[in-house]
Amino acid sequence: MSAPSIPRRTIKASIGSPYAKILGIGGYRPRRIVDNAEICTLIDSTDEWIRTRSGIRERRWASPDETVQMMSLAAARKAIERAGLHPAQIDTVIVSTVTHLLQTPSAAATIASELGTEGAAAFDISAACAGFCYGITMADSLIRTGASTYALVIGVERLSDFTNRGDRSTAFIFADGAGAAVVGPSETPAIGPVVWGSDGDQANLITQTEPWDQVMEADSPQWPSLTMDGNPVFKWASFTMAKAAADALDRAGVSPDEIEVFVPHQANMRIIDAMRRALRLPDTVVVARDIERQGNSSAASIPLALEALMESGQVRSGQTCLIIGFGAGLVYAGQVIVLP
Ligand SMILES: CC(C)(COP(=O)(O)OP(=O)(O)OC[C@H]1O[C@@H](n2cnc3c(N)ncnc32)[C@H](O)[C@@H]1OP(=O)(O)O)[C@@H](O)C(=O)NCCC(=O)NCCS
Repeated sequence: MSAPSIPRRTIKASIGSPYAKILGIGGYRPRRIVDNAEICTLIDSTDEWIRTRSGIRERRWASPDETVQMMSLAAARKAIERAGLHPAQIDTVIVSTVTHLLQTPSAAATIASELGTEGAAAFDISAACAGFCYGITMADSLIRTGASTYALVIGVERLSDFTNRGDRSTAFIFADGAGAAVVGPSETPAIGPVVWGSDGDQANLITQTEPWDQVMEADSPQWPSLTMDGNPVFKWASFTMAKAAADALDRAGVSPDEIEVFVPHQANMRIIDAMRRALRLPDTVVVARDIERQGNSSAASIPLALEALMESGQVRSGQTCLIIGFGAGLVYAGQVIVLP
């Protein structure tokens, strides 16, 4: 005799908005400007070498009061206001950072509370310089599945805390800041399919000098810093990432001459130009060059560069923009977005 069949239970699944879009962007740049002359008091270098090899003239380093929390709140409040929303309407907070100093709780949970959300879902992600694009992808997916209506994505770093100021290969590059975006429902597509991935075989190219257990076991513990093997990262970024950016355009059904704005991660001006050439972007495309004044602020670099272009009037709402982030992991993510 066969076993009696157990009635199958059906559960409800959430269905969200057909599409999502970025509604507002905000940023926070630390007050302190560190120019190349100051960097050259720390390392054996010249203003000319730094400008020609990286494109950086100056960068921002946070002061003690400009914490991950403080910078995130400032950027988030601007983004929420520009989105025309109230913090209570934000139901998800995603913070991308590799420089929040607490293992737990997340930066996102306390930021959600201090912002005045009503108990928004909150979590941190670790995707280094690709973190903002990872966050946008997650927000887009959460909104389209109905898990979230208005999601806040923050990219924030205090890389100066993890920079060996005497290291010639990194001291002139890394910077601090925060950028935020509010993502909400849309009737039309405004965030294209993501092209993302990782290559952990190359994890050693950008990494912390040693893990915390080894730091603490040392006779005289030294605060760890980030090390970078710049040359292979440069080649990977200029060639492999250009291909990923081309794939992101392809997946969004947009040709290079239909793109109006290009905002790659601000890692090196030569990488930005190599990608622009590889993608065959027309000269009319507005290309973000925030690296010159901001340095490399990792997860904050794309939203800060976007904010700068919007505030200067170089770009306008509704334009089609390609963003791509890449960095330690190695990890990357890129997509086409419609500007808020
Ligand atoms: C870091 C970076 C600017 C260095 O530029 P580079 O052209 O690769 O420079 P190299 O490391 O090959 O060094 C070239 C020369 O400059 C010298 N040099 C290195 N750092 C220097 C410095 N700060 N100042 C002056 N000279 C320097 C080297 O000693 C070398 O000298 P040599 O030719 O006599 O041996 C570049 O590799 C880079 O931007 N990499 C990618 C960073 C990135 O994309 N990160 C993204 C993830 S966060």
